[in-house]
Amino acid sequence: MRCEHDYHERNRYDCPPRTGDCHSGHSRRYDSDIEIHSPCGISVTDKTKDNGGIKSLLVDKSIAADVREKLLESELLNLEYKPQEFERNIALPITSEAALMNLDWFSEDTHSIASLPLSQNIGKCTPAQAIAAEIAQLFDDEAVAITDDMKELLPTKWDLFGDLAVIPKESLNSPEWNAVMKSKSGFEARVWEIICRNIKVNRLARQAEIATDNLRSSQVTMIYGDSGEVEFIDHGVKFYLDVTKVMFSSGNVTERHRIGDIDMTGECIVDAFAGIGYYTLPMLVRSNAKQVYACELNPNSIQALTRGAELNKVTDRLTILHGDNQETLPKLRNVADRVHLGILPSSEPTWRLAVDCLKNSGGILHLHMNLNDSEIDSFTKYCIDVISDYALQHCDFSSVSLLHVEKVKWYAPHIRHVVLDLRIE
Ligand SMILES: C[S@@+](CC[C@H](N)C(=O)[O-])C[C@H]1O[C@@H](n2cnc3c(N)ncnc32)[C@H](O)[C@@H]1O
Repeated sequence: MRCEHDYHERNRYDCPPRTGDCHSGHSRRYDSDIEIHSPCGISVTDKTKDNGGIKSLLVDKSIAADVREKLLESELLNLEYKPQEFERNIALPITSEAALMNLDWFSEDTHSIASLPLSQNIGKCTPAQAIAAEIAQLFDDEAVAITDDMKELLPTKWDLFGDLAVIPKESLNSPEWNAVMKSKSGFEARVWEIICRNIKVNRLARQAEIATDNLRSSQVTMIYGDSGEVEFIDHGVKFYLDVTKVMFSSGNVTERHRIGDIDMTGECIVDAFAGIGYYTLPMLVRSNAKQVYACELNPNSIQALTRGAELNKVTDRLTILHGDNQETLPKLRNVADRVHLGILPSSEPTWRLAVDCLKNSGGILHLHMNLNDSEIDSFTKYCIDVISDYALQHCDFSSVSLLHVEKVKWYAPHIRHVVLDLRIE
């Protein structure tokens, strides 16, 4: 059942494929739609402005819709500007006079080209589309060539942490991009500024594979701005981390919210893989837990968790145990009403220790794991059998029952991140 894939979670802001047209189809996968109101359009390939006017094709109103469609098909409609009525004609902004005149359907008898004062098309478009359009314009203005391969590497998704965005590791990351960025003084900064402005952030970092060490260290590097420290709020809970030091699992957002929705008033909790407080902090802030014992190996995560607890003013209800939980969990025997085992691909090495943490009155376990979709039922049974064997034979418990199976996300093809909630009595 183990998954060999790297824990490489992606967010979060997936844009539709880049096209010449602007749609408001930009989607934020989890929380809410993000919208941007900015000029956008296809890359303008030759001069479209003339004495302040916009190169336009003037056509009779009766055929304007038809001609607009044809311009769109030929990628010659300039989406940066709005079509406008001039007496019986409609002016359709174009991207290339030369290319237009080469089209079969173009006839100088029925179509005329003029430079007209059109207004900008302030429509909704995705940040990714705006980035693509503005970068194409920058290259055009600076007479620098941009290849299709380079365009493919413009970012269409990113992780947002307050005023810092982490773009994918392949974004603007190729020998071609590296050479162009260094080709002119100040050029690189202008490219990053365009990206920052459209994503509405001040700092940019680039994603990298998460280290394969058991600390799951981040290898994210800053590319614009100095510090990777961020503070942000998710569902009323404040988090702090340095994106260059520790990873943040944005893909677990629904599970963080589910755990935070559970009423834990009066409960003592053990979080065996606390990290920066992904679950510890929601349990303290939203679930109203009485006390959380947070086990964590990585000093950078502990520093972030400590800061997060201060920001949320819950330090007095948090006890951090630094070290390997194989050594720290045995110090927490009989203290917990609930134990959280948030590690992938499997938390199995800590199952028995987790049962030992429960009070004699019993409690609840939340077990995270990666499972092949077809094995969820059989593995759930295996899990209950293993834990029942231990809880009933080695401890004084009398039953282990399944409360809930939460399918958190797809981790890889056919592999799901699953959480089993078990009650032990
Ligand atoms: C995947 S991260 C936490 C992720 C978080 N629970 C989530 O789902 O967003 C796992 C955390 O467990 C910590 N960790 C891994 N093995 C550990 C161990 N044996 N003892 C204590 N902490 C450990 C890592 O340092 C890391 O911060």
